[in-house]
Amino acid sequence: MNTAGVDGASEGPCFHGGAFFGAIGDEFGDLGRSADIVNADVLDAWFPPAPSVLEALSEYLPWIVRTSPPTDCAGMARVIAETRGVDPAHVLPGAGSSALIFLAFARWLTGGSRVLLLDPTYGEYSHVLALVGCRVDRFTVDRSSGYAVDPDRLATVAAAGRFDWIVLVDPNSPTGQMLPREAMHALLDAVPESTRVWIDETYVDYVGAEHSVERRAARQANVVVCKSMSKAYALSGVRAAYLCGTAETLATLRPWVPPWAVSLPAQIAAVYALRDPGYYAARYEETHALRGRLEAGLARLPGVETVPAVANFVLCHLDPGGPTAATVAARCRETGVFVRDAGNMGTGLGSHALRVAVKELDATDRILESLDDALCRAP
Ligand SMILES: Cc1ncc(COP(=O)(O)O)c(C=O)c1O
Repeated sequence: MNTAGVDGASEGPCFHGGAFFGAIGDEFGDLGRSADIVNADVLDAWFPPAPSVLEALSEYLPWIVRTSPPTDCAGMARVIAETRGVDPAHVLPGAGSSALIFLAFARWLTGGSRVLLLDPTYGEYSHVLALVGCRVDRFTVDRSSGYAVDPDRLATVAAAGRFDWIVLVDPNSPTGQMLPREAMHALLDAVPESTRVWIDETYVDYVGAEHSVERRAARQANVVVCKSMSKAYALSGVRAAYLCGTAETLATLRPWVPPWAVSLPAQIAAVYALRDPGYYAARYEETHALRGRLEAGLARLPGVETVPAVANFVLCHLDPGGPTAATVAARCRETGVFVRDAGNMGTGLGSHALRVAVKELDATDRILESLDDALCRAP
């Protein structure tokens, strides 16, 4: 484990994928350009939202756009609660999990808080923790063990560490690794009551909703689940997410959620999406087949080693003697293919780690072709 104090004042905003808007234009003058690019640098779903979502939005769009949404998202919270087997009091909706992360971390943590964070992991966490000024200890997972989180070591560190918080992304990004369920429950049994465990389950539905620990969060005061609906329900553009925790825990945040926090398109989309689990289950099955194809294609590229993954993205390591991930990503960009240099998502990933999102067949072929060209091109 590395221990690193983080100086919020010295950090800029967290780097994310999304460079593809440079090719489309962020004033949206020609949205048709979106068809020409492959945005595998962010982990948006490769499939569209459920047909019922699109029908509801398109049929009533003029009314939806001009109408104030239900002030407190109560219907959205009820449908989430029903779907997840918890009470609506255990659900706090938000406009994307990023909004909830910023709200909760700013309200619940202080500059005196001590937090254990996976390394590597989703970069926004170290950024927000730095903003708050927390002391961050890093729980490093490394390449030699396939980036697997050793649950016994984590439980030992958690029990001994007197942490105020532990932040887990499960399945983790960019590594694509997930803790086995029994191990997660054993960890939640072992963590001291004084330590809050924040579990980001953005990608868990790809593996199976039954792996979620939301029900546990609803009854265990020191567990909070953060659930984006962006990636698993194909709703990144509308912004929908929620926190799941005990009623008492969430009650401390509710007064700080502004009215109309979630747009009407997002509330409607979230409700209709949750009511069509069959559609999404079929898309997750297809995702696994597409990921298998992507992994196999990547592994055939010169000098590329892939890390077996469980969700809608694959981490790979490039030949250290060849072009860096930044160079490869820049070369791919020239062909309209966007992939992510993962280097800044962990202290040990280095300059040759690349993360690629799972995409539909044609786009996968384009990614592989573009990467092949980028890797083989003379310096
Ligand atoms: C692990 C993780 N958590 C949270 C987010 C934020 O997602 P959103 O704000 O779209 O809900 C992302 C986005 O990439 C992510 O990868």
